[in-house]
This record gives sequence, C-alpha cells and structure tokens, in this order.
Amino acid sequence: MAHHHQQSAAAVIGLGSYLPPHRITNDDLATRLETSDEWITSRTGIRARHWAPPGTSTSDLAVEAGHRALKSAGLYPEPGAVDAVVLATTTPDHPCPATAPEVAARLQLGTAAAYDIAGVCSGFLYALATASAQIIAGQAERILVIGAETYSTILNPTDRTTSVIFGDGAGAVVLSATRDPEQPGVLLGVDLGADGSQADLIRIPAGGSRQRANPDDPELGDPYFTMQGKKVFAAAVTRMQHSAISLLDRIGWTTDQVDHLVGHQANIRILKTLARHLDIPEDRAVINIDQVGNTSAASIPLALADATASGRLTAGSRVLLTAFGGGLTWGSVALTWPDGLTVG
Ligand code: COA
Repeated sequence: MAHHHQQSAAAVIGLGSYLPPHRITNDDLATRLETSDEWITSRTGIRARHWAPPGTSTSDLAVEAGHRALKSAGLYPEPGAVDAVVLATTTPDHPCPATAPEVAARLQLGTAAAYDIAGVCSGFLYALATASAQIIAGQAERILVIGAETYSTILNPTDRTTSVIFGDGAGAVVLSATRDPEQPGVLLGVDLGADGSQADLIRIPAGGSRQRANPDDPELGDPYFTMQGKKVFAAAVTRMQHSAISLLDRIGWTTDQVDHLVGHQANIRILKTLARHLDIPEDRAVINIDQVGNTSAASIPLALADATASGRLTAGSRVLLTAFGGGLTWGSVALTWPDGLTVG
C-alpha cells in the first residue's frame, strides 16, 4: 500500500466471472413476446441469456465475480488485498450511493476506495482506463475492476426490441502494479471517446434529475431502458473501428498482429462487420454473445473469462479490447495476455 512507484505499469493478475443460474432461451421469450428464435438468432446471434431472479441485484453478481477474480489473483479477500474497487455498471443497486462501496464491504476489503463508473456498454473499458491510470500514477498498487449488470431489472417486459438482447452477469479483473513493462498481462494503451450529442439513442428516460420515474404512466416517466437499434448499430461499428485503429497506431501494432479481438458483445453482426473493417480474420474475434446476450458493462470481462477458460487466450498473446455504448461512449484497450492465469 506504499505509493512510491512512479514509473510502474498495470498488469492483469486475476480474472473471474459469474452468471446467475437462470438461463432464458429465445423460445422462452417467444412464449410471452411476439418474437421467434429465428428472428433473434439471425438478427443478433443470441441464443440464450441469463437473468437474475427477482431480489438479486447488481452487487450480488459483482461480489461473486469479484471474489473469483481475487482468488484467481491468489489474493485472500481481506483488508489491504486491494487499494480500490471500481465497478462499471448501468444498473446500480440504488441511484445513490454508488454500488462499489457495498461490494467492497461485502468482499471484506476494509476501507479500500470504491467508486462506480457509468459508461454503459463501454463502462468496463472506462474502468480499466481509470484504474490503470491510478496504478501508473502511484496512487494504488492493486485494484479490483468489476463490470456487473442486472439489465433484467430495467427492461420493459413488453418491449421485444430490448428484451431479447440484454442479459445479466458480472466479470472482474485484478490489476496490479509492475515495474516490468514487458510482463505478460500489461496494459499497453488506452483510447477513450464520447459524443453526448447522441445521448438520446440509448437512454432510461426517467428516474434521474431531468425526470422523475413514474411507472404507472410511462408518458410522464418511463423508467425502462430504450434504444434506437439501427442508429446504434451504425455508430457502434464506426466508433469501435476508429478507436481501435487510433490505439493500434499509437502503440505500434498492425491489425495483423492482433491475436484476439475481444469486442463488446452487442450483436454478432456488429462484431463480424467490425472484424472485417479492421481486416482482422473473423476467427480471431472472441464471441460468446450466443450464450450470454448483451451484458453491457459485464460483456468484455465475461468474454475474456470464457476465452481463457476454453484455453483460447494464452500467455503473451496480443489482445485488443474494444467497446461502444450509451452516452454515446466508446473505448479500446490493448494488452498482452498474462502467464498462467486461471479463471476464478
Ligand atoms: N422479434 C421480432 N421482430 C422484431 C423484434 C423481435 N425481438 N424486434 C424488432 N422486430 C421487428 C421490428 O418491429 C421491425 O418490424 P417492422 O419492419 O414491421 O417495423 C423489424 O423487426 C426490423 O426492426 P429493426 O429495428 O429495423 O431491426 P434491425 O435489423 O435493426 O435489428 C437490432 C434490431 C436491435 C437487433 C439491431 O438494430 C441492433 O443490434 N442494433 C444494435 C443494438 C446494440 O447492440 N446495442 C447495444 C449497445 S452497444
């Protein structure tokens, strides 16, 4: 906890994930919405998603994933294990306070700093950016970075355009300071961007200071998640493509050198179009949206956990993370994959 390391880098040393057990197939949704497995699979690539049971909140999922990431890092959940907990989420337990302090307390992490990041589907990469910057600045030695969502609590159950897309889940990594910039696992660069002039494309209209929520009259206060899918689709591909290229240029990688493209799992067609635009072969794109849907801030750590568990991500391989979401926000992170990492 001494903060004297001025010229350190931040490296991934632990990884964990958690999905609530209740798995919802497309056919399950088709029993109550005017939709079909054929429509959902062909338009989105999603076959199933997990939804938390009523009463389960984002902190519950975050604690599970956080615990597993600490274990994967060889850390015992106790005061001093990490200096901060950063939680990326669109679905905090309450509008106030942030959810991260409760997660830190339930993980027995003492009085570690704890804060939320609201970057919607880009939230996990924004969280990695701030956490790694804290480490590089010498403000922290180790940080637990979590992406956790319970979108099932903000979906309008009668809206087929959003209900079929989003799922619940959580993923987490532990970042640690290192003096060795060549160490596998080191974050090599970050690119972030935002365009608030398109804030209305993805939004929960009510429940904030602009408009109080009024579930009895959606006209007066729609508390549910809304999205203009077609416009989001187009912006997502362009923004992720430009963000990824600008980051690769900066760190000196060609797209050819990217071993694994881990994009935000928004839609399989977005991921395939992005890979094509980046000139990265489709088989280098990590895809798990078929099993989890779009889990927003949890999407990238869940994809990393699945790809690590299946033996796909190996020590030293070059990994490009890229995401896009409401705000609008977007971002990319490049790293090499750590040695001997097992998913907790
Ligand atoms: N089942 C059956 N039909 C559906 C449906 C569903 N679940 N959802 C929408 N439709 C219908 C629409 O009502 C529309 O019917 P119409 O032509 O009679 O009006 C038709 O299907 C086409 O809808 P559209 O919204 O134009 O479809 P699309 O091809 O754009 O696909 C998305 C919709 C949401 C899958 C797509 O736009 C998308 O993936 N966008 C990106 C969203 C995203 O990933 N956001 C996450 C944040 S990054």
